[in-house]
Amino acid sequence: MNQNYTRYTELLRKVADIQNAAALLNWDQETYMPPKGAAFRAQQLSTLAGIAHELATSKELGDLLEALSNDKTLSDREQKNIQKSLKSFKDNKKYTTEFVQELSRTISETFQAWQSAKEKNDFSIYAPHLEKLVALKRKECEVLGYKAHPYDALLDQYEPDSKTADLEVLFADVRSQLVAFVKQIAAKPQNDDAFMYLKYDDQKQWDLGLEYLKQMGYDFEAGRQDRSSHPFTTNFSCQDVRVTTRVNENDLNEMLWSTIHEGGHALYEQGLPASEYGLPLGEYISFGIHESQSRMWENNVARSLGYWKGNFGRMQRTFSEQLKGKTAEDFYKAMNIVQPSLIRTSADELTYHFHVLIRFEIEKALIENKIQVKDLPSYWNAKYKEYLGIDVPSDSKGVLQDIHWSHGSFGYFPTYSLGSFYAAQFFAQAKKENPELEKQIESGNMKPLLEWLREKVHKHGKYYTAEELCIAITGEKLNFQYFMDYAKKKYSELYNL
Ligand code: CO
Repeated sequence: MNQNYTRYTELLRKVADIQNAAALLNWDQETYMPPKGAAFRAQQLSTLAGIAHELATSKELGDLLEALSNDKTLSDREQKNIQKSLKSFKDNKKYTTEFVQELSRTISETFQAWQSAKEKNDFSIYAPHLEKLVALKRKECEVLGYKAHPYDALLDQYEPDSKTADLEVLFADVRSQLVAFVKQIAAKPQNDDAFMYLKYDDQKQWDLGLEYLKQMGYDFEAGRQDRSSHPFTTNFSCQDVRVTTRVNENDLNEMLWSTIHEGGHALYEQGLPASEYGLPLGEYISFGIHESQSRMWENNVARSLGYWKGNFGRMQRTFSEQLKGKTAEDFYKAMNIVQPSLIRTSADELTYHFHVLIRFEIEKALIENKIQVKDLPSYWNAKYKEYLGIDVPSDSKGVLQDIHWSHGSFGYFPTYSLGSFYAAQFFAQAKKENPELEKQIESGNMKPLLEWLREKVHKHGKYYTAEELCIAITGEKLNFQYFMDYAKKKYSELYNL
């Protein structure tokens, strides 16, 4: 065994151990921590982050990476690990301590301003802070460097190697094809979903959620489900991957989609290669690919008629009063209502992408310095009118709704749409390779799909870039037509188009 490589592995695993310990503290903070724990918890997290950062940018690691990057005796996967570690090491080194501190200070001020602005419905509280943060983000693009477009540098942090120019083409398709299709749907009579908002007992919903996770193949020996106000997935290794969900007794949708969505994320993490713990190849590829896994289970699988042909009987026995006289078809129609709305997180799977499109256009214009922060509310509202045909009643329900910008997360939103589009393309391929797939889902047998995902996506870790993975699985780059075909087929039937 190559001594340098062994030492490199040791160092990276130490960093991972510290980061995973911090992740456990974070998980606890979101689930069980008593309120008085908050102050010292923040200190503990910041101490651990500091130690991890020191180790990850140490001279010893830098020297090892330089030496190993020229070592031709390494295996293919080892070389990939070194290549990817060297890139993040160099990226880390581009930031001066002053810049990191200024960014982190500005983010915490902006986040606080955002909270109060949202609560008081007053954008002017937020604007000066956001302006400062956007200026820092523009500077960050220069620090990190880019070839074609400054926004590429920000995208790269969430979706490595993706390019603004490609997203422009993709979102032009969303604009030209999806907007028109949703208009066609809007002209049709709406389906009934009132029964989704009757009273559904909390405990019974929780128990059903656990059954759905189990059916998907989520390994409860390597994870657990808890409650949190914002559902999330976290992991401390591929053998401890935890999900959270939320239950609303007056809206059955919340438990269903948050449970299955996070379950999809968790299956990906549980399927990553344990042998590469702490190394780049033991990790997920990108936010977009991660989201493709959650969206596939949520939308392509669980929002399908077949899934409910298999699962509706059990659901109806559990909630016999609420679902009296309903069929799997009624249930399927109710969960697939398409209706333009204000809030991204509760949007249907079609109009959802207009919310992302709007944020993408705004982020790009901000980074290009083409619009000013003070003009965001009017810009936002005009876009909602244009793409969704709705009036925004207040900034709280408009430009202030999402947390992302207050955290300095620019370049994140597009990965949500990428997730759905990759999911559609991967799912089409899975069906092509396995003509029995839909029948299996209908009979509650999710194993073949999970095995396919393990083989095609999970087990490779970060070996491929998102684009390489897409080509390896489907023979072509990301192609919006797969999503559009899926949408047209499904919703033309649902709305008699
Ligand atoms: Co997600």
